[in-house]
Amino acid sequence: MSPAPVSFQDWISTLPKWHGLLQLSPERPYAHAEEAYDTQYGVTAGEPEEGQGLCALLQTHGVDTTGPALEIGCGTGRLTFGLAQHYPGPDFLITDPSQAFLRLTQGQFGSGEGYPTRLHFAVLNADDMGSLPPGLFSLITMRSTLHHILGVGGFVAACARALRPGGALVMGAEPCEYGYVLMGAVGQTIAPALAAAGVEVPPAWKEKLASFTDTIRFYCRRDIDKTTAEDKHLFSPHEMADLGEAHGLRLRFLANATFSDYAPPYQAEFVSFSVFFMNYLKYCMLFDEEFLKLIRRHLRTQLRYIDDCYRSHTGPAITGVYLLRKTPATP
Ligand SMILES: C[S@@+](CC[C@H](N)C(=O)[O-])C[C@H]1O[C@@H](n2cnc3c(N)ncnc32)[C@H](O)[C@@H]1O
Repeated sequence: MSPAPVSFQDWISTLPKWHGLLQLSPERPYAHAEEAYDTQYGVTAGEPEEGQGLCALLQTHGVDTTGPALEIGCGTGRLTFGLAQHYPGPDFLITDPSQAFLRLTQGQFGSGEGYPTRLHFAVLNADDMGSLPPGLFSLITMRSTLHHILGVGGFVAACARALRPGGALVMGAEPCEYGYVLMGAVGQTIAPALAAAGVEVPPAWKEKLASFTDTIRFYCRRDIDKTTAEDKHLFSPHEMADLGEAHGLRLRFLANATFSDYAPPYQAEFVSFSVFFMNYLKYCMLFDEEFLKLIRRHLRTQLRYIDDCYRSHTGPAITGVYLLRKTPATP
C-alpha cells in the first residue's frame, strides 16, 4: 500500500528556513547580474499577463487546480506576479536557485512580512526535485527555465512523481530545436551577405556572429558536458512527447505560443520568424543597433522567404508552451 499523501503545510513545516527562505537546495547565483536581468530583456516588472494567461490555459485544458502550485526558476517574477493573483489553488511555492532572484520576486509583493500567507519562497535547484513528496502539486510550472536544467529526463520524471493525478507540468518560452537551428543557419549567411553588398564587417561584429552561431550549435549538441553552462538545451516536441509518455504525462505542444497570448488583449506575441530572429540578436545576443539595421537590409530576401512559407500558419516552431498533463485518477 502506498503511504498517505503528505499535506503541503505539514511538509513545509519540516523544511529548514534561512532569512525567510525555505531551503530545498544549496543556493546557486545566476551566471549574470540578477539586478540587470529585466533591463536586458526589456521586462516591466509587475505585469499580470503571463500568470493570468497560464491560468486561462489550465482551465481550457481541464487541468486540476485544487492543489498547491510550484514555480521553478522564478527569476524576477515575470510569471509569478500574475500566477499569485489568478491561481485558484490554496498554496503557491515560488522557487529559484538564486537568492537574489527570490528577493527581487518577493519585492513584487511588498516588503517585510506583508506577503499573502499562501505564498512561500524556497531556494530550489530543479536537479533536486526528487526530494519533493509524491502527489503533492496540481501545477508545476516555469517560464524560460527548462533549458537551464542539466538533467531534463530526471526532472520530468521527478515532476510526474510530485504531481497529483489530473495536474500538469506546464513550461512556457522554451526554445525549439527546429527554429533555433534555422536561426543559426541564417546567422551563417550574414557575413557573406554583407561582404557581397560591399559592407565591411569589423572584428567586433565578426566575434558577435561567431558567438551567436557557436552558441546555437552548443545548445543543440548532446555530446558536450553542459554542467557549468547557464543556458544548455534546445527541445523537440516529439521527443518531449515520448519523455512525457514514459512517465504518464500527455503532451500538448502549443507552437510559438506564450502564456500571455491567453490573457487580455488576447494578442499572439509571436509575429514571424524574422521578428523573433531580430529580437533574439538584439536582446539575447546584444547586437548593436547599427549592425541590426544592416542585417535587416541585406538579409531581407532570406528572411522574407522564411516568413512567406508561414503566411498561412504559425512556424517554424521556434518557441512554445509544453503542457504535460498527468492522467486523471479513474473514479
Ligand atoms: C532565463 S531565466 C527565466 C526567469 C523567469 N522565469 C522569467 O521568465 O523571466 C532562467 C531562470 O532559471 C533559473 N535556473 C537556472 N538553473 C536552474 C536550475 N537548475 N533549477 C531551477 N532553476 C534554475 C535561473 O536562476 C533563472 O531564474
